Amino acid sequence: MSAGPAEERKAPTMATTSRIAVARSFGSPDVISIENHEVPALAPGAVRVAVRAAGLNPVDARRRSGGFGGRPPRTFGSEFAGVVVESADPGAPVGAELVGWAAGGANADLLDVDPRATQPKPEGLDWLTAGGLSGAGQTALTVLDTLGLQPGAVVLVHGAAGGVGTLLTQLAVARGLVVLGTASPKNLDFVRSLSATALDYTGDLPAQITAASAGRPITASIDLAGSRQAGDLAVAIRQAGGAAVTLVPETMQSHGIQILSSQKTPARLRELLARAADGSLKLPVEGVSFAELSAAHARMDAKHATGKLVLDLADNPFLPASAR
Ligand SMILES: NC(=O)c1ccc[n+]([C@@H]2O[C@H](COP(=O)([O-])OP(=O)(O)OC[C@H]3O[C@@H](n4cnc5c(N)ncnc54)[C@H](OP(=O)(O)O)[C@@H]3O)[C@@H](O)[C@H]2O)c1
Repeated sequence: MSAGPAEERKAPTMATTSRIAVARSFGSPDVISIENHEVPALAPGAVRVAVRAAGLNPVDARRRSGGFGGRPPRTFGSEFAGVVVESADPGAPVGAELVGWAAGGANADLLDVDPRATQPKPEGLDWLTAGGLSGAGQTALTVLDTLGLQPGAVVLVHGAAGGVGTLLTQLAVARGLVVLGTASPKNLDFVRSLSATALDYTGDLPAQITAASAGRPITASIDLAGSRQAGDLAVAIRQAGGAAVTLVPETMQSHGIQILSSQKTPARLRELLARAADGSLKLPVEGVSFAELSAAHARMDAKHATGKLVLDLADNPFLPASAR
């Protein structure tokens, strides 16, 4: 890795402090504050990105509430899209537009990233979609790759309208699977728009499943909802010879369903970006500002998402004008 002259490796900016979302204690959404920090030196081997958009995920709400244990403080954000502003890596030069994942800290103006956990943002892909794709999308691909189902298989997706469910449903349909997707009444039309059969979990779900599957066995149950009903149905499907997986620790604990965890790879991110760029994978996104971050966490706590909330940092002073 060769480094060019310093002025070629660092974009000029007037700002000397950068904003980052922090929780200094565990609790409800109002523990989040936006702090201003001195800009530190770039970590060795890292590339510094000015964040333009960063998807919000239930894992952030769990970190905030103390669900993973440990001690505060906590930062948030494990997926991002942005522009390189400092780099010693010729593969990710200053000005490059990247999409990627991180262990945390992407709800910030500046994020130091491992360039191996990034891919170029396709030209023309909007920033908010790019910033919300990596985490939920790679989780969806992990689930589908793990199950390895054949075209024609019927899968029951609990929580088909959320961040993971929206992407998983479309990716499953693209693989030739038949998707029965559960949602509340407000999200049924949306789930239908993803080419799934929409089932209302507030009604008689077993009867709807029987009608929708038309005598075909359910090959797999995928729980993204963490509800007791989803756990009960997963057990029944497994007893009938199908597969059952969950992403929710509570369903693993209450029903003994196999839990999967997201496995992130450059190849998975490339697939998602290619599909989003050619329009075959849609992700409805709603941008929120730093000032709206606590309210966005409250919405995540309510667990009734349609698509994804994405932190919109168009006002990031480190961004070049072309990315604002
Ligand atoms: N293990 C991992 O690596 C991993 C990775 C990513 C996510 N996750 C977990 O996976 C889950 C889903 O993530 P996400 O980002 O898709 O969450 P999300 O965006 O909050 O979506 C959750 C969806 O669940 C639906 N829902 C709520 N109650 C339901 C019920 N009783 N029955 C059926 N659906 C219900 C909601 O839709 P309605 O309004 O229609 O109810 C909502 O769209 C979360 O628990 C998250 O923590 C785990």
